[in-house]
Amino acid sequence: MMATSGDRSLRPLLLLLPVLGLCGALPGSWLPGSYSNTVDGVLAFLSDYNRTAEEVLYYSVTASWNYNTNLTEHNSQLQVQASMDEQAFSEAWGQKAKSTFTTAVLDSLPNKQDRKLFDKIVVLGPANLPTTDRQEYNTILKATRSSSSPGRAGTMHPEFPSKNTTQDLWISVTKAL
Ligand SMILES: *[C@@H]1O[C@H](CO)[C@@H](O)[C@H](O)[C@H]1NC(C)=O
Ligand SMILES: *[C@@H]1O[C@H](CO)[C@@H](O)[C@H](O)[C@H]1NC(C)=O
Ligand SMILES: *[C@@H]1O[C@H](CO)[C@@H](O)[C@H](O)[C@H]1NC(C)=O
Ligand SMILES: *[C@@H]1O[C@H](CO)[C@@H](O)[C@H](O)[C@H]1NC(C)=O
Repeated sequence: MMATSGDRSLRPLLLLLPVLGLCGALPGSWLPGSYSNTVDGVLAFLSDYNRTAEEVLYYSVTASWNYNTNLTEHNSQLQVQASMDEQAFSEAWGQKAKSTFTTAVLDSLPNKQDRKLFDKIVVLGPANLPTTDRQEYNTILKATRSSSSPGRAGTMHPEFPSKNTTQDLWISVTKAL
């Protein structure tokens, strides 16, 4: 399958991220709360993470969408900022997970799916971000292409992402764990 101009335009931006090394202040509502080192604490943490990650994903997808449909310097900066915030989000929750819960508690989680999600949160660091982002972008670009008219593959006629789009995306991300 041929790469589209959309795919190509993302690459230089992703490479720039580690170089810029900026860090954004996350909104308080995106930060983890405090949790007890118990099974209930882990489940509360996962539930909060799930809800918040969906919002962060929506914000990040929206910024990518804007940039990919309107290649201005300003939109590029907003997209970089969104990626930075996403990275800060991953780090904050990964740190919280590592510093709060012990292996004994994690091993006693009754649902294996919960354990998988937890492990994923802990390893979600800057190193993983480019991969995660690329998956998101590919999903978006695919959705975009399938909604544009036949014979004009790669031409962007996307609809603005709805909360439902990103909710579906998020559900597919967690299902793929
Ligand atoms: C995360 O939220 C989605 C819907 O927003 C839900 O379908 C899914 O089961 C949730 N996963 C966990 C682990 O809470
Ligand atoms: C493109 O983005 C710029 C901001 O960088 C905005 O001023 C302009 O209205 C946008 N154009 C369209 C067609 O959305
Ligand atoms: C385990 O959690 C997943 C995702 O939250 C859910 O879909 C599944 O039904 C749960 N399994 C059990 C046995 O509770
Ligand atoms: C989003 O999903 C909700 C229910 O899941 C539905 O009521 C609503 O109409 C959907 N919105 C769009 C724009 O599809």
